[in-house]
Amino acid sequence: MTSKPKVWVARPLFPEVLARLAQVAEVTAETEERPRSPAELKARLAEVDAAVVGLTDRVDAAALEGNQRLKVVANLGVGHNNLDLDALTQAGVLACNTPDVLTESVADFGWALMLAAARRIGAAERWLRAGHWPGSHMRFDDWLGLDLHGRTLGILGMGRIGQAVARRAGGFGMPVLYHNRSRLPAAVEQECRATLVSKAELLARADFLVLVLPFTAANHHAIGAAELAQMKRSAVLVNIARGGIVDDAALAAALREGTIAAAGLDVFEGEPAVHPDLLVLDNAVLSPHIASASAATRRDMANLAIDNVIAALGYGESAGRPPTPLNPAVFDRWAIRKA
Ligand code: GLV
Repeated sequence: MTSKPKVWVARPLFPEVLARLAQVAEVTAETEERPRSPAELKARLAEVDAAVVGLTDRVDAAALEGNQRLKVVANLGVGHNNLDLDALTQAGVLACNTPDVLTESVADFGWALMLAAARRIGAAERWLRAGHWPGSHMRFDDWLGLDLHGRTLGILGMGRIGQAVARRAGGFGMPVLYHNRSRLPAAVEQECRATLVSKAELLARADFLVLVLPFTAANHHAIGAAELAQMKRSAVLVNIARGGIVDDAALAAALREGTIAAAGLDVFEGEPAVHPDLLVLDNAVLSPHIASASAATRRDMANLAIDNVIAALGYGESAGRPPTPLNPAVFDRWAIRKA
């Protein structure tokens, strides 16, 4: 009888999902969320056939150096800027992510941030909890916010999540403009009721600008001081993509100086640290990278990551056909390197 493959799960996961994995593999699962040094990550990856990693685990050439065992890395997230796909492919390691299952939840959350930032929900709640309401003689013209309905929604990055954000705009009567590397098929544009514009036009015309683009070297600081200066003073910026796409220092300055009106941010440069200037601004609604964190969706993401591992290791109904591989060409080389 051959021994079970070994799998390391780098983040605490739902017990019932781990139980599915344990049917086919010997599982070592972390029970605490904590930062891991590159040396620890490398050592853990060297001991196993597959790893389930989180977005803060950086799997690059250094982490894979000398590793002759690892076959699969499954990322708990759709964004995969923590994975060096070239290095993984070079090492013959299959990489997988969790697309689709989180699309609608992340789009919902984009709207939550738009609404919260526009209607000042975070600041108003802090004020109420601090006990200011009684005795404040709150005026009819206090806490005035911005409307969403009828305003123009701009979307930068029109992939699956961008499209899901756009589809919700009809309910608010908001026309949608988008900017993307490539134009969407006419049928999708029609379904999203979205019009392609240049980035400059998007910045100039959007009342609400939602960022949903992947983080790549080219997208680093795609929104910086120059871009913020092109936006309306009444505009609201929402980032549900990745920290680093926005220059957070420039954004804090723009929010402080009234270059734009407000922001809703789920992701930050250097998170979990958040730029101190953002932390003190009442016109920024901040959340700790939780856009996909509905109970159902986080379970679906965990299950999809495990499905990828199980199938890639050759078990289950989809044996040999992991559902969401990022570098499927690796399969062709497995027979040679990792028999
Ligand atoms: C979350 O940020 C993800 O990429 O899934």
